[in-house]
Amino acid sequence: MAEKVDFLVIGSGIAGLTFALEASAHGSVLVVTKSEPSESSTRYAQGGIASVLGKDDSFQAHVDDTFSAGAGICETAMVELVVRSGPERIRWLESLGVEFSTTATGDRDLGLEGGHSRRRVAHVEDMTGRSVEQVLLERVSQTPNVRLVTPVIAIDLITADKVRHAGDANRCLGAYILDLTTNCIQTILARCTFLATGGCGKVYLVTSNPDVATGDGIAMAYRAGARVANMEFIQFHPTCLYHHKAKSFLISEALRGEGGVLINAAGHPFMDEYHPQGSLAPRDIVARGIDAELKRSGADSVFLDMTHLPADFLQERFPNIHQRCLELGIDIRFEPIPVVPGAHYCCGGVIIDADGRTDLPGLYAAGEVTYSGVHGANRLASNSLLEALVFGHRAADSAGQELQEKTFRFPREVPEWNMGLAIDSDEKVVVTQAWDEIRSFMWRYVSIVRSNTRLERAARRIDLVREEINGDWWRSQPFGDLVELRNLARVAQLIIQSALMRHESRGLHYNLDYPDADDAHFRRPTVLWRGRRRR
Ligand code: FAD
Ligand code: SIN
Repeated sequence: MAEKVDFLVIGSGIAGLTFALEASAHGSVLVVTKSEPSESSTRYAQGGIASVLGKDDSFQAHVDDTFSAGAGICETAMVELVVRSGPERIRWLESLGVEFSTTATGDRDLGLEGGHSRRRVAHVEDMTGRSVEQVLLERVSQTPNVRLVTPVIAIDLITADKVRHAGDANRCLGAYILDLTTNCIQTILARCTFLATGGCGKVYLVTSNPDVATGDGIAMAYRAGARVANMEFIQFHPTCLYHHKAKSFLISEALRGEGGVLINAAGHPFMDEYHPQGSLAPRDIVARGIDAELKRSGADSVFLDMTHLPADFLQERFPNIHQRCLELGIDIRFEPIPVVPGAHYCCGGVIIDADGRTDLPGLYAAGEVTYSGVHGANRLASNSLLEALVFGHRAADSAGQELQEKTFRFPREVPEWNMGLAIDSDEKVVVTQAWDEIRSFMWRYVSIVRSNTRLERAARRIDLVREEINGDWWRSQPFGDLVELRNLARVAQLIIQSALMRHESRGLHYNLDYPDADDAHFRRPTVLWRGRRRR
């Protein structure tokens, strides 16, 4: 029997929880999430949330910085909307209980990060995400209208075009959900479905992202017929800790904001050769600078040097990073930190409007799963938590209003998940192999510096791997890793296809065969949808 709710929220990061709290005023909310409730990119955010809060700052300055990072293809109205909504969203978090770090005079302490012309990053020490996630989860647990269920993974969206007698217009009706404890698949019908599944960093071998970031929402929405945009713009964070025992640990850009300098093994501050802002240049430039330095020298890593700053200050301002590095034998107060770039953020995703609506009626989205037009070809640091807050909030308002204004009847008969001839798979090794293969060719062929030859090779490989995965999919009962692998492969294919379509270099997309920007032909997003013919 299908379960029916007003709002189905997929994902429990900042976007999902913001939406859930706000939508609970309009109806029943079910949040489904595939790991621990707090496991998300949100939880690991260090730097903070960018917003115009300082006396020397202005909305125009934040808009200009966002545009400048976005390399000419940010959408003006969306950037202005997000920037202007910032202070109110920060106050909302404070009203829920988030305690941002303050200065000795009691003002909010504002951090500086690459590409920002002012100090404007509100933070909770160097653990902003952990604090925000904890407060939001506490609030959700106290809200009677919201139920959170875990560990369950959404497999696919249910659309009216697959359901008999569901009306003429296509729309999203909910999702099929796999319970990871019982392996049963449940049909959840919802008046409104909200996608908040985050990004896809796990497509790459080296990433700052947690294991849950497998691009599920992008793949599900694409399969359901929604358009996705700008998937070629994958942001590589310049400084992930390089240590054999540290999986995905970020060394925040805020360290460079406080004066940290990138040096090579010889102690030379090489970034000065690439940009006048040196180590604090925009992320795409720093990541490319490090990539070039590593290729030139053959070294395994470069280093972030903080040793010229007062030891007490470092310990107090960055307690989490100091502690984690210390556990691994690196004292950031007295020795440089080994770092490498890693896949960090997906600037593309499911297209939404200013109210978080996707192309598919009944399906809303916010956060890293989306393309809102705010980030353009390169996201400005600490703009993503802000974007997720703004669109999570606006989507809840808009979906709540829609529920009140429009009558919507659930179709009488929605098919259960079709197992077909599926049998329990005993060949899990094929999943591991495909997973490793994708992540490694994406890292080598489709990362910081690209070329036509590498992209074409990646395209041939992903077609082959997807063909095998599709075969496995219809032969096996779905299980968590296979669901994720199917999505990861689809997202990899979307990244490659988008990169092949952009015959220029802009922001995060750098192709050696087209080293310059081509405004005449490519000053626009790359848009894909199911059925669009490949070039
Ligand atoms: P997430 O927080 O990633 O949440 C996604 C949720 O969806 C998770 O709960 C996941 O388990 C769930 N999920 C996924 N697929 C499914 C499925 N199929 N079924 C059920 N559940 C599913 N941005 C900033 O602005 N400032 C920062 O300082 C900052 N620092 C960062 C540091 C790190 C290490 C990382 C990785 C990112 C950082 N970012 C930062 C980026 C920012 O954290 C993310 O973009 C943002 O948190 C995304 O929020 P979200 O709610 O969209 O997704
Ligand atoms: C960081 O702290 O460096 C991450 C900030 C971001 O990704 O916005």
